Amino acid sequence: MAADTPHAARQDTAAPEAQVPAIELRGISKAFGPVQANKDISVRVMPGTIHGIIGENGAGKSTLMSILYGFYKADAGEILIAGRPTTIPDSQAAIAAGIGMVFQHFKLVENFTVLENIILGAEDGRLLRPSLAKARAALKALATEYELHVDPDAVIEEIGVGMQQRVEILKALYRQADILILDEPTGVLTPPEADHLFRILRNLRDEGKTIILITHKLREIMEITDTVSVMRRGEMTADGGAQGSAAGRKDPRHPR
Ligand SMILES: Nc1ncnc2c1ncn2[C@@H]1O[C@H](COP(=O)(O)OP(=O)(O)O)[C@@H](O)[C@H]1O
Ligand SMILES: [Mg+2]
Repeated sequence: MAADTPHAARQDTAAPEAQVPAIELRGISKAFGPVQANKDISVRVMPGTIHGIIGENGAGKSTLMSILYGFYKADAGEILIAGRPTTIPDSQAAIAAGIGMVFQHFKLVENFTVLENIILGAEDGRLLRPSLAKARAALKALATEYELHVDPDAVIEEIGVGMQQRVEILKALYRQADILILDEPTGVLTPPEADHLFRILRNLRDEGKTIILITHKLREIMEITDTVSVMRRGEMTADGGAQGSAAGRKDPRHPR
């Protein structure tokens, strides 16, 4: 990445500690009956970084992200977006706060086209024709900017999972997401598709987006993240946002 881009300049002039986190979770707890899925979890995600959250199955990663996306209500704790305490009662509120989510299992309408899925819920149905034209143009621009190529007229059930995932990412970007959460995104991908996804995520990061990548694969965390948090049995055992942790903060200008 060139040293004169805004992203690099921001990294050079401000120490990470001096920046306001894009997302800060404070003391988040959530129980499902006897299962304490999240126990007093605090984490800070800095803007313009790829922040990994790693942990074995059942560690509580998806629960934590579902709270952030307004799917579950936390029993305790606070969410701050860009330093401001924010309540996220539902996914509409999450979208309004600039958060986009790519779920483990995609939520696309199988017999709709890519373009129809992108505008679904984001545009006024009565204005379908102008909306489709607008979305088509926006899609073209996003595709070029981030290597997010899709066929806008393809029907979802006829395209592969790699492209379906790109549609989910585009859907979030079309809704102006600044923060993108991906929950185990490579589970469904072939190794070349995963490499393509990582290129897209680096492009998004380099344009200033904040990415949260959930995974249980250590290799992915090492390959693509700038900062890492580790979850174990509902607890955050190491937060890369804090210096001197297990993984710590890596330099986002020199991703491996
Ligand atoms: N809706 C739910 N109802 C009951 N238990 C749940 C629910 N969602 C998650 N859990 C439990 O909470 C724990 C954390 O799950 P989860 O957040 O999905 O972990 P991860 O995403 O790290 O694999 C697990 O023990 C899981 O069984
Ligand atoms: Mg999960």
